[in-house]
Amino acid sequence: MGTAGSRNQEIHDVVGIGFGPSNLSLAIALEEHQTTSPGQPVKAAFFEQQAEFGWHRNMLLPNATMQISFLKDLATFRNPTSRFSFVSYLHAAGRLVQFVNNQDFFPTRREFHGYLEWAAAQVADRVSYGSRVTAIRPVPGGVAGVADLLDVEVSGPTGTRVVRTRNVAVSTGLVPRLPAGVTSDERVWHSSEFLAKFGAADKAGLRSVAVVGAGQSAAEIARYLHDNLPAAQVSAVVPSYGYTVADDTPFANQIFDPAAVDEYYFGGARARDAFWRYHRNTNYSVVDSDVIRDLFQRTYDEQVEGAKRLHFRNLTKVAEVRRVGDRTRLVLDALLDGEPQHLDVDAVVFATGYDVLDPARLLGDFDRNFLRDEAGRHQVERDYRLVSSVELGCGVYLQGGTEHTHGLSSSLLSNIAVRSGEIADSIVLRRAEQQLTQERAVVRAAA
Ligand code: FDA
Ligand code: NAP
Repeated sequence: MGTAGSRNQEIHDVVGIGFGPSNLSLAIALEEHQTTSPGQPVKAAFFEQQAEFGWHRNMLLPNATMQISFLKDLATFRNPTSRFSFVSYLHAAGRLVQFVNNQDFFPTRREFHGYLEWAAAQVADRVSYGSRVTAIRPVPGGVAGVADLLDVEVSGPTGTRVVRTRNVAVSTGLVPRLPAGVTSDERVWHSSEFLAKFGAADKAGLRSVAVVGAGQSAAEIARYLHDNLPAAQVSAVVPSYGYTVADDTPFANQIFDPAAVDEYYFGGARARDAFWRYHRNTNYSVVDSDVIRDLFQRTYDEQVEGAKRLHFRNLTKVAEVRRVGDRTRLVLDALLDGEPQHLDVDAVVFATGYDVLDPARLLGDFDRNFLRDEAGRHQVERDYRLVSSVELGCGVYLQGGTEHTHGLSSSLLSNIAVRSGEIADSIVLRRAEQQLTQERAVVRAAA
């Protein structure tokens, strides 16, 4: 197929861009809608750039556990009887009884990945893997000049094609962030590349390594390197005075509840600001307490043994990275020492976090039709649809990138089951309203 669509080509109700947990959850919500309302089928297609389903594969470290309860899966909070629940997966895998005996709300990330793959396999007929979406464009024309269709350009194994749809659900995920001036290469890695880059490296050449950052990724990678490079010096460059614990206590955890989305969305600027001021430490630049204790135990054991190879550079940031011969030099901005310091390593992992999803690049010129707030961020309706400045019959829904409008769960799994249900409902409802409007117009014209 070419890159130009024609007005009579097949039309989808929704095209999902990216097929991580968020759009997988949407595919499930639509599948279940089909079962409960067989008279109103929703035509959906999903495109994923990876060759197969994968959820942060480069961070599937052994022992890394989930940061949410297994009940916050792809479906349960929306439909507790769903056949796509984590409990159904355990049952199918023959592990339900032993999982309960294990008495742990937080499965390993590897087990949860198995669950996500199992669920993805059940909706595989709607997903094209190895397919990268490169642009979204409005189709010229439409009823009374109102754009009602979108063309989605997809680059895949057989070339580029265009898929036509009434709505898109953009769910392209977090974007890895490196400090300004730092670029990744075979010795400088972002945490999102970790296992692939570590797997490809010559381990004997890794005598001294550093991990930059004080979030969950940094702490897990420091622990992994300490385990897997038993002769290497491992340095943790930590901007705080030490790792800070992630608050997952029950009252604080309520900010991830479905109800908190309404309170954040309708709460006003001061309330939204308070969410962040009091509760940023539930998610960002924080580490689960068991990982903190594990790392501290290691450094204490090394003191007892008199053989120290796990080093912490506290109150320190990386200001610059230079190549010196075959080594990598980190220029450190250490608050306690004042003078810039150097740390030469064979490899460095920047666990320096992520930027949020921004749909502007995919929308190109079309983005001009969507309103932004005074801080330049997209305005988003409660049903996760971008607010447009002109009347549009087509919709751009966001799964992610809505922290400023819908709150802290935007980039997380906590609310995806409910959010996907709300998006599915919105697509069905708006389609029904449009059909009604068009039918009335036909009746008026005939009268
Ligand atoms: P995700 O990033 O998972 O998926 C986006 C997909 O879109 C990717 O598969 C990508 O390849 C694809 N894509 C991107 N651009 C594309 C394009 N142009 N065309 C086609 N495909 C495209 N949260 C939580 O609540 N509990 C947890 O335990 C964790 N654990 C965790 C571990 C690690 C290591 C990280 C980095 C993050 C977490 N998170 C988390 C947060 C994380 O954002 C969340 O778990 C999900 O990945 C969010 O799912 P999404 O589908 O929105 O994005
Ligand atoms: P993060 O929480 O954003 O942490 C980034 C860290 O990098 C912060 O400590 C930041 O310090 C630091 N940093 C940034 N620039 C720096 C510099 N130049 N020098 C030194 N330090 C620098 O990122 P993350 O740890 O990748 O976590 C992202 C998300 O993934 C979170 O939701 C997390 O829960 C999730 N995650 C989950 C798991 C799991 O489920 N097991 C594993 C990993 C990640 P400042 O605070 O000063 O900015």
